[in-house]
Amino acid sequence: MVKPGPCPGVEVRAVDEPATGRDDVLLRIDAASVCGTDRELLEWTPSAAAFGLRFPVVMGHEAAGTVIETGPDVAGLRPGDRVALESHLACGVCHPCRTGDGHNCAALGILGMHLDGVFAERVAVPERLCYPLPDGIGPEVGALLEPAGVAWHAVDRSEKAVAGGTVLVSGCGPVGLVIVQLSLLLGATTVLAVEPNPYRRRLAASLGATAVAPDTDVVDLARTATGARGGVDVAFEVSAAPGVLPVLFEAVRREGTVVTIGHPADPAEIDIAAHVNKKGVTLRGVFGRRLWDTWEHMTALVSAGRLDLSWLITHRLPLEALPDAVELLGGDAAKILLLPDEA
Ligand SMILES: NC(=O)c1ccc[n+]([C@@H]2O[C@H](COP(=O)([O-])OP(=O)(O)OC[C@H]3O[C@@H](n4cnc5c(N)ncnc54)[C@H](O)[C@@H]3O)[C@@H](O)[C@H]2O)c1
Ligand SMILES: [Zn+2]
Ligand SMILES: [Zn+2]
Repeated sequence: MVKPGPCPGVEVRAVDEPATGRDDVLLRIDAASVCGTDRELLEWTPSAAAFGLRFPVVMGHEAAGTVIETGPDVAGLRPGDRVALESHLACGVCHPCRTGDGHNCAALGILGMHLDGVFAERVAVPERLCYPLPDGIGPEVGALLEPAGVAWHAVDRSEKAVAGGTVLVSGCGPVGLVIVQLSLLLGATTVLAVEPNPYRRRLAASLGATAVAPDTDVVDLARTATGARGGVDVAFEVSAAPGVLPVLFEAVRREGTVVTIGHPADPAEIDIAAHVNKKGVTLRGVFGRRLWDTWEHMTALVSAGRLDLSWLITHRLPLEALPDAVELLGGDAAKILLLPDEA
């Protein structure tokens, strides 16, 4: 599935067998999953354009696969090994990379945007994008570790304020839903979830959240639920919907934290004096997953049976059905897997 240029759409194309470079592995894709970002790329929204793609590019950045060939400089992987893929390719030598922030590399390349991605039968990727999967984690859940890892990173960025805390999650797509799940797993006492899609509200409620539509008075709900605390300890913005940030600044308590994950198309206004200075709210953003501690924590939780992600999978479709998958995302769906025929 190839994005040919900076315009809406995607093409099914026969492409050359990927060339395996010296430090690359050639993978057979066993399962790939479709993300809200893929919808943005198909529709070619301003936030999609802001990623600065290299064209033409094979789309897709969430997947697990099996190594079928290794370049001569690959040291840690062999044919037959099963891996999940990180989507942020770090250079390893810039300042962020050298100081432990490789997810935010100064020369970052993103799978399916700047290097050919996973909506294909096979892909050649640098070895350093691969995370070997433990035996107990299959390809379908393996493909979900990338998006679910964003949720872990967001909880991490709140300095795990979810533990023993009250939480607000704005937007219950897959990332927001896993934030609900992780918050409760780590000991949140109350999780309020805001989501317009009734199907996704039901999923959030089934996890244990109080799920409401965006036309609810969210600030009042947060204050009522938290009593003398005066608001939630942490609010996660996972919708990218315009205009929701001021509501979250109101709904958190004094000295609370707002973590943004969604990428809104337009800059948002923040009342620095009222919210950041006088109310003391900390605002933090998230980009990708921490390399590799997010992966270590997520796979440990899944392997130990403490975190189930398989319930997120609502559809399995063939690779070429990407446009249908993107249509389905707006309805009764959470994660949609694309399974290449050869898998
Ligand atoms: N920061 C990062 O590294 C990173 C990584 C992955 C995804 N993202 C972004 O995070 C967001 C969530 O990702 P996703 O895959 O779950 O996407 P998604 O599009 O499936 O989820 C967004 C959800 O927000 C809901 N929503 C729409 N308007 C709303 C409103 N006014 N209030 C509350 N909810 C509303 C939608 O119905 C949808 O369920 C997207 O914007 C995505 O681009 C960021
Ligand atoms: Zn994604
Ligand atoms: Zn770097």
